[in-house]
Amino acid sequence: MKICIVGTGGREHALAHALGHHGDVVVTPGNPGIPGSVVTPATEIDADLFVVGPEAPLVNGLADQLRAQGKRVFGPGADGAKLEGSKAWMKQVLDKAGVPTARYGSFTDQTAALAFLDQMHDLFVIKTDGLAAGKGVLVTTDRAEAAEAIGGYLSGDAFGAAGQTVVIEEGLTGPELSVLAICDGKNAVALSPAQDFKRQKDGDLGPNTGGMGAYSPVPLATEAVVEQLMDKAILPTLATLGRQGIDYRGVLYCGLMFTPEGPKVLEYNVRFGDPETQAVLPRLTSDLGQLLASAADGQLGAPPTFDAGAAVTVVCATEGYPEKPRTGDLISGIEEANSLPGVSVYCAGVKASPQGLITAGGRVLAVTGQGASIEQARENAYAGANNIHWPGIQRRTDIAAQPTQA
Ligand code: AMP
Ligand code: GLY
Repeated sequence: MKICIVGTGGREHALAHALGHHGDVVVTPGNPGIPGSVVTPATEIDADLFVVGPEAPLVNGLADQLRAQGKRVFGPGADGAKLEGSKAWMKQVLDKAGVPTARYGSFTDQTAALAFLDQMHDLFVIKTDGLAAGKGVLVTTDRAEAAEAIGGYLSGDAFGAAGQTVVIEEGLTGPELSVLAICDGKNAVALSPAQDFKRQKDGDLGPNTGGMGAYSPVPLATEAVVEQLMDKAILPTLATLGRQGIDYRGVLYCGLMFTPEGPKVLEYNVRFGDPETQAVLPRLTSDLGQLLASAADGQLGAPPTFDAGAAVTVVCATEGYPEKPRTGDLISGIEEANSLPGVSVYCAGVKASPQGLITAGGRVLAVTGQGASIEQARENAYAGANNIHWPGIQRRTDIAAQPTQA
C-alpha cells in the first residue's frame, strides 16, 4: 500500500515510521529530517491512502478536496474538523451528546464575558474559539489576568480573528489523559492512552505549550477506564455528529481530566496528538495502514495491538519557546541518539543547511525511548535526549517521572 502523509512535524515523522513498517510512505511537505519527504502537494500525489496530520488543513477542507478527487482519506472533512476549529461549537456538541465537560460560556461581548467570569471561582480558564496553534488557552488563578486576557482576545490583538469569540470555562483540577480514537463514521477504537506534559517547565510550571513530552501507557487508564470513555464520550459524540449529517472518519483525540467528580472532557482535537503520537505509535504491533484504511472506508477493521512495554517521549525545544523561539542553530547528536537501543528521534522544527540540520521552530525534536517499563523507557529517552545539543536547547527533566496511578 502506498500512503501519503500530509504535514511537517514530529507527529508526521512518527506516522511515517509506523506506516512504513507495512507500506511505502511519502510525506508532503515533511521536513529534511523525515525520510520520504516530497514537495509535491497531496492533490497531485497518487496513493492508496491519504493521512492528514495537522488540524489547519483539515479545518480548511483538504480531506474534502481529496475525497472529491476520489481518494481514500483518513481525516475528517471540514464539517467534522470544526470540533477543533471552534471550541464553542465543540462544547455545543458535547452538551448535545451528554458528555461531561467543564461549565462554560462563549462570548463576543466584553461586558457579558466579564459578568460570566465573576461566576467562576479560584481557577479561570480563557480560550480562543478558533485555532491558535496550541497557544490560545490561559489557565490562571489571577482574576485580573483573566480579565485582561479577555480584553486582548476580544479586541483581536492577542490572536486575531481566532480570539474574537472567547470561551470561558470553570477551572477543573486533576490528572489529564489523551485518548486517540480511530473512527470510521459510526464506530471507533481507542489506541493505547498517553499522558501529555503541556507546561513548559519541570513541575508543570511555566506557560502552556504544544506539549513538552508524553508517555504511554498510563497506569491510570485501565481497560475499564478506556471502555467507559468510549461509551460515555467518543461513541455518543460520533452519534451526535452523525445525526447532524457528519460522517467523521479520522482521529478523534479526546483530552480529558480526572476531576473529583469524575472524568470530564476538556477538548477534542481532530488529529493525532503531538507529542502523544511519538509515544503511542512506536508501541503498536499491528498494521497501522490497514487500520486507518479500514476507517477511511467506513468499515473499521480488527482493533490495534500494542506491546506490553512502555514509551516515553522527551521534546527538545529551542530557547525562548513558546513565546519567541530562537532558530538557526546547528543540531548535533541525532545519529548518536538514534543508534542507542530503544531510542528513536522524530524531527519537527528542522531545516537543512550545508553543515547539517539546524533549528527552525519551537519544538525541534522528540526523542522517544522504549523499554519494558515506564522507568526503563524513561531512562532510554533521556539517554537519547542527552546526546542532542544546540545552544539554548530546553527540555523538561521530569517527563514520566511520576506516572499517574489508577
Ligand atoms: P485545551 O487546548 O482546551 O486542551 O487546553 C490546553 C490545556 O489547558 C489542557 O490540557 C489543560 O491542561 C488546560 N485546561 C483546559 N481547559 C481547562 C479547564 N477547564 N480547567 C483546567 N485546565 C484546563
Ligand atoms: N499534545 C497536545 C496536542 O496535540 O494538542
